[in-house]
Amino acid sequence: MTPEEVVAITAKHTYGTWRFQKNWTPLQIVDAEGCYFTDAAGKKYLDLSSQLMCVSIGHKNKAVIQAIEDQAKKLAYAAPGFATEVRAELSKLLLEVLPKGLEKFYFSTSGTEANEAAIKIARMYTGKYKIISRYNSYHGSTAASIAATGDPRRWAVEPSGKIDGVIFAPECNCYRCPLNHSYPDCEIACANYIEHMIKNESNVAAIILEPVVGTNGILIPPKEYLPRLRKICDDYNVLLIADEVMSGWGRTGKWFAVDHWDVQPDILTTAKGITSAYVPLGLTATTMKIADYFNDHYFSHGHTYEAHPLTLAPAIAAINELRNNKLIDRAVEMGEYLNEKLSTLKAKHPSIGDVRGIGLFYAVELVKNQKTKESFNTKEDKVNGKPLLVDKIAAEMMKRGVYIQSWVSHFIIAPPLIISKEDIDFAVKNLDEALTIADDALKA
Ligand SMILES: Cc1ncc(COP(=O)(O)O)c(C=O)c1O
Repeated sequence: MTPEEVVAITAKHTYGTWRFQKNWTPLQIVDAEGCYFTDAAGKKYLDLSSQLMCVSIGHKNKAVIQAIEDQAKKLAYAAPGFATEVRAELSKLLLEVLPKGLEKFYFSTSGTEANEAAIKIARMYTGKYKIISRYNSYHGSTAASIAATGDPRRWAVEPSGKIDGVIFAPECNCYRCPLNHSYPDCEIACANYIEHMIKNESNVAAIILEPVVGTNGILIPPKEYLPRLRKICDDYNVLLIADEVMSGWGRTGKWFAVDHWDVQPDILTTAKGITSAYVPLGLTATTMKIADYFNDHYFSHGHTYEAHPLTLAPAIAAINELRNNKLIDRAVEMGEYLNEKLSTLKAKHPSIGDVRGIGLFYAVELVKNQKTKESFNTKEDKVNGKPLLVDKIAAEMMKRGVYIQSWVSHFIIAPPLIISKEDIDFAVKNLDEALTIADDALKA
């Protein structure tokens, strides 16, 4: 097949997700290794966003590929009702790396399924049905997960494609506080407001949140926020669900983002980095207290592909690669280097409103005006298919051989944790030059 045919058939016969289908001409990728991928014309791109913030250990990792091959030869599939060695081995490993107290696991094949299971488990266990989520969040595309999503991807499926009972709290965003406060004078009003919601709503089963918000802007809470929410949850018998689909597996410089604040969630969900996306795997991890409830109550959930051996073996290999190659320490070290470089850009470009991040998880947010923080584009622009300034800059970056994810008014920088200083220099130099587009837009 010619590259033209590959692109034409892909665009005509398969759906381009989260977009209007018109004018979709996807780039064909033919190869990927380390921090780079290659298109059909042989051009190489630095993968500054690990595809969808998921290929954490980099492309073509030999140990993970070997684990897939070995498992395929040994036992490719077993129905979820059977025990397998790989299931037991991964469970043992998870007990070593997950936050303390999370000891019973449900394996699925995506982040959205992991959250579906979490919400269902929370409702069955508590007997309550309301779920508090926050604006500026993404939890997945299926009924409960999209209902719990605060960003505009939810709008198009309302009211038919989602579940009832989800209510939204203000997000914790110290750059654009939804309550117009500033930290630390605010005394974490955004967390305290959630207590007010719980008291006035009643029937709240759980709060679901990204401990460090991903796609919606790498929002890092101040140190008091998560411990305060943990306390509120304990006081009102509400479960805390940490969605670490994107923030887990070393991305923030710890195994899990909640580890930064020593907070133990009742349920933790994850996917993406668990296998570095070599195969699709989702995980819902719960405490034994929750698990024990189902000793005498029907666990009403399951999938044909639950605990699929081919998804579990590469997870073991990917986790061991993180550990053996000390990639989480590396995320801290390279994150500091990246922060230095991006801060230099901020000082130079009037179009940068904020640079924020933790580990190798950074956002560069663009504004028309650094004082008023007015954005170039809105969420409405995004879902209405209006051309966005960040997309124009991302396209310029592609021309320059750097792939970077953009969302409404910011870029998400989350490279493989194996990235070198030279690659960071290359990326930042190109971002520096491409940002001329935004600086020029200020003059227009
Ligand atoms: C925080 C978070 N939760 C859930 C999901 C959904 O994961 P998946 O796309 O694997 O269904 C994502 C995906 O980006 C995510 O970032």
